[in-house]
Amino acid sequence: MYRSHTCGELRPEHVGQEITLAGWVHRRRDHGPLIFIDLRDRYGITQVVFDTASPEVHAVAGEARSEYVLQIRGLVRARPADAVNPDLGTGAIEVSALSASVLNPSRTTPLYIAKEGGEDESLRLKYRYLDLRRERMQRNMILRHRVIKFMRDFLDAEGFLEIETPILIKSTPEGARDYLVPSRVHPGEFYALPQSPQQLKQLLMVAGYDKYFQVARCFRDEDLRADRQPEFTQLDMEMSFVDQEDVIQLIERLFTQLCAAVVPHKRVVTPFRRLTYAEAMERYGSDKPDLRYDLELVGLGDILAATPFNVFKVALESGGQVKGLRAPGCGGYSRKQIDELTDIARGGGAKGLAWAAIPADGGDVRSSFAKFLGEGELQAIIARMGGQPGDLLLIVADRPGVVAASLDKLRREFAQRLGLADPDLLSFGWVVDFPLLDWNPDENRWDAVHHPFTAPQDEDVPLMTSDPGKVRAKAYDIVLNGYEVGGGSIRIHRREVQSQLFDLLGISQETALAQFGHMLEAFEYGAPPHGGIAPGIDRIVMLLADESTIREVMAFPKTQQATDLMTNAPSDVDERQLRDLHIRLA
Ligand code: AMO
Ligand code: AMP
Repeated sequence: MYRSHTCGELRPEHVGQEITLAGWVHRRRDHGPLIFIDLRDRYGITQVVFDTASPEVHAVAGEARSEYVLQIRGLVRARPADAVNPDLGTGAIEVSALSASVLNPSRTTPLYIAKEGGEDESLRLKYRYLDLRRERMQRNMILRHRVIKFMRDFLDAEGFLEIETPILIKSTPEGARDYLVPSRVHPGEFYALPQSPQQLKQLLMVAGYDKYFQVARCFRDEDLRADRQPEFTQLDMEMSFVDQEDVIQLIERLFTQLCAAVVPHKRVVTPFRRLTYAEAMERYGSDKPDLRYDLELVGLGDILAATPFNVFKVALESGGQVKGLRAPGCGGYSRKQIDELTDIARGGGAKGLAWAAIPADGGDVRSSFAKFLGEGELQAIIARMGGQPGDLLLIVADRPGVVAASLDKLRREFAQRLGLADPDLLSFGWVVDFPLLDWNPDENRWDAVHHPFTAPQDEDVPLMTSDPGKVRAKAYDIVLNGYEVGGGSIRIHRREVQSQLFDLLGISQETALAQFGHMLEAFEYGAPPHGGIAPGIDRIVMLLADESTIREVMAFPKTQQATDLMTNAPSDVDERQLRDLHIRLA
């Protein structure tokens, strides 16, 4: 037996016992005759004291360095009152070493385990096994475990079955590129890694399994960001004989109870807010608004209908919008600071940013555009936006998509600058009534907004032929503090509706049969009405852990360039492997 206790376990009740610990040298303080070693494992840290009673034992401590793996037998004793460390679980005791051995030495580590931060993330990713020793990563890994465990227990109690689906499958479109795996036994043919188990979970409903879930790994070859990895994990779920409200109620209960269990110091706003997609875009310029604060966008189109200012006029005449955002108390911003804001707005596609600063002391309004406006228009804008002395008003004129994207960026920026988002508040919300289809001008066809298996809303079905852009879907996203943390829908379960949708998406009958024949056929054998959702586990854990990238809650994430710095994947393969796979590099 290597150890009788872990390094986080010993308490005053153990005083007087002889115990054995094994762990890593976290810190070592050498005072000559007395050496202190903080021995660490994932359970905690215990202070071990070496004196000169046994020169051999003292010598082991003398040679030990940071991250050596030691085994120590010793006597638990109470620390003197002035040496008690209330921040440490084991802080009331220490271990007086009776014997010690080095189980394995360690080279000097390229990153300090005991002192976090400061170094480049690439160093952390290259030596991830060292980074994972640190408290922050340990805390995040433990939280992730508890989140997944809670989800499994909750769904088990609700009667769900966890069923695994294959990784080597046929492509399921979720809007990204597939990762392909060449087949050795079928020259020139490929499997696709699942972008999600979407089709398989629907087929499980046809098979009568009724309530399915899976902690499912998904693969998407897309541009990576802080909240996107090429492989990530969903809590994938599907249910039969449910409507949208059933799915929403179940997920609200799951998340409310989950948060109470794993992050009891945070507050969840219940019931979760509901917004239609149109309302979310109108008020926040985003389909994943941060609902912890207001800062709503204000429409100005009606009061500027006859404006002489060309920028606004052209935008409105060509079907665009003019909307504003009020930044409270920012009226003292300098030109340089406003130029920075203009750059942020440009990041959302805006061609410029009109601004007006209302002085706190009642002087004249400074503005980039007032001189171009008609009589009374500036006052009307200030009134509409609720401008107060000391405020900065920011206005963008453009196509609705650009106005939304650029004001959304500014809204998030100001929330951060003004500290409006309470970090301990979990503000979940549902965004519902998404459009079913989105016009793709490059390809001259409709794209599915969610995925091609999502059902249209019943009352909008007639519009499928007359005005497809107006059809709303039975689709819903769950958002949390400004992130999309899950998406789902009620599915099409009738073959003729699915075929009609493939038609609208410009998928020929032939292609539909070749790609989705199994789905269309399955729908002919008694497919029940069904629907589901897939919360993104990485993003949820990221938010519960107060982290700003999902890499911090994944044991072995990839970089933004989709490489693994630790193993150097992707990498070359031998000629022979390629030959077996019938692949020649171009
Ligand atoms: P969707 O594509 O909306 O739906 O994905 C569901 C959730 O998965 C998470 N997610 C990601 N997380 C990390 N990295 C990524 N690259 C990434 N992509 C998506 C998000 C997202 O909300 N099959 C449907 C679900 C359904 O209809 O039931 C689907 O995959 O949190
Ligand atoms: P200009 O006439 O182009 O110099 O623009 C006058 C003011 O309008 C400047 O403050 C510009 O930044 C601003 N502006 C230009 N384009 C836009 C736009 N698309 N939306 C809002 N303001 C704009």
